[in-house]
Amino acid sequence: MKIAVAGTGYVGLVTAVCMAEKGHEVTCVDVDENKINMLKAGASPIYERYLQEMMVCNDERLTYTTDYRNAYKSANLIIIAVGTPEKKDGSANLTYVYNVAKEIAESAENECVVLVKSTVPIGTSDKVEKIIDENKRHDVRIDVASNPEFLAQGTAVTDTLNPSRIIIGVQNEIAEKVIRTIFEEFDAPILVTDRRSAEMVKYASNDFLALKISYINEIANLCEIIGADVQDVAKGMGFDPRIGNKFLSAGIGYGGSCFPKDTKALHWLANMNDYELKTVKAAIEVNEQQKLKLIKKARKYYDTFQGLTVSILGLTFKPGTDDLREAPSLVNIPILLEEGARVKAFDPVGIENFKRLMERSDVSGINRIEYYESIDETIRGTDVCFILTEWDDVKNYDAVNFRKFMKTAIVIDGRNCYEISLMKAAGVEYCCIGRQTLKWATEIADISQFTMRSS
Ligand code: UDX
Repeated sequence: MKIAVAGTGYVGLVTAVCMAEKGHEVTCVDVDENKINMLKAGASPIYERYLQEMMVCNDERLTYTTDYRNAYKSANLIIIAVGTPEKKDGSANLTYVYNVAKEIAESAENECVVLVKSTVPIGTSDKVEKIIDENKRHDVRIDVASNPEFLAQGTAVTDTLNPSRIIIGVQNEIAEKVIRTIFEEFDAPILVTDRRSAEMVKYASNDFLALKISYINEIANLCEIIGADVQDVAKGMGFDPRIGNKFLSAGIGYGGSCFPKDTKALHWLANMNDYELKTVKAAIEVNEQQKLKLIKKARKYYDTFQGLTVSILGLTFKPGTDDLREAPSLVNIPILLEEGARVKAFDPVGIENFKRLMERSDVSGINRIEYYESIDETIRGTDVCFILTEWDDVKNYDAVNFRKFMKTAIVIDGRNCYEISLMKAAGVEYCCIGRQTLKWATEIADISQFTMRSS
């Protein structure tokens, strides 16, 4: 099949490459000329496992262009995978989706199906259809369907090739037939429904996962107060198949391009329809507070960060990606700089993106950030270490080195990377999320040697 994909972000590029892998002829369209030139040169603009290699392997079936007219002219299937960034009021900005709809209407000369893959508010596919109908230049049949995407960054290629489910929102059987021929090659359950329900599946899924994380984070916070271990609690809960054992890792809150945006967008959409999504609202609030958790924990040792050197392990919102959208590092580092700290940061792939973001921001004191590719050098001489991303390099790091290299071996871990006993044996003052059980309480109570509080 001849496929055109609008947008070469995470969803667009990964979908395009996986469709080429399945034998289709795919043209990737983007307005960003730099990105297209990079892709033409065989380089992926995003860091994602297997993507670059698969781009090279499927080279002859992949074309990259800014010329949408030619791409949409004769395609049988056009996938809309452009961004839907968050607006100030929390709603989704649909300008890019609607622009593509108009371009399709102007260019398509063949009967085709338009698949809306971008995460869009309920009712958007209807609007896309309307735009296409109103602007159509040629008398050809164009069907619009919703096909939400569930890939996660870091595992995007394997998620796309082995999806948990395929959701198809269609208004007629002709579109359904075309879409089925594409997806029958994938080994996954297929749900065919109407367009609005398909759009809702995406938001409802993402918001539910966000809710699950905020819930376990609140349980973790309570575990700290009452002396229980949230990891064991989550494990115990996870044995119940009705709950499941996934997405119950307590930490410093969710980030990324989806959960923060999609929770706010659905909440906004409900509000617009005079309905309050109370659970989703709570998940958003809990997450905002959770991102400040390490700063609060550090106050136990230091009244202020003024004059301190803080090491940061991990800048990206999760491991396996160079994406920084809504990453806890973007909340924590500005606070540390604001209070006058010096920051030493480590990340295996996120440093360049972080530098660029800082340079474009109005964060003060960015000249006090130093970047390192080695954990030893990052923590050397520092007064406290924050762990923000659970990269394997961090999880496998020898605990003894914290004691060896840090000025004061206080590690505040937002991702529960280490065994408490191991850190204790290594002589490290270790604070993590939701695991201060009574078992450790007597030792934890004796922190005088690490306490720097002036009070
Ligand atoms: C998510 C969804 O998983 C995916 O299905 C959807 O298509 C897009 O949004 P992604 O944002 O790439 O994918 O990453 P994910 O692995 O879901 O993690 C999101 C955030 O939640 C990360 O910041 C992660 O650290 C956090 N998280 C996840 C937790 O804090 N605890 C968990 O148990 C799981």
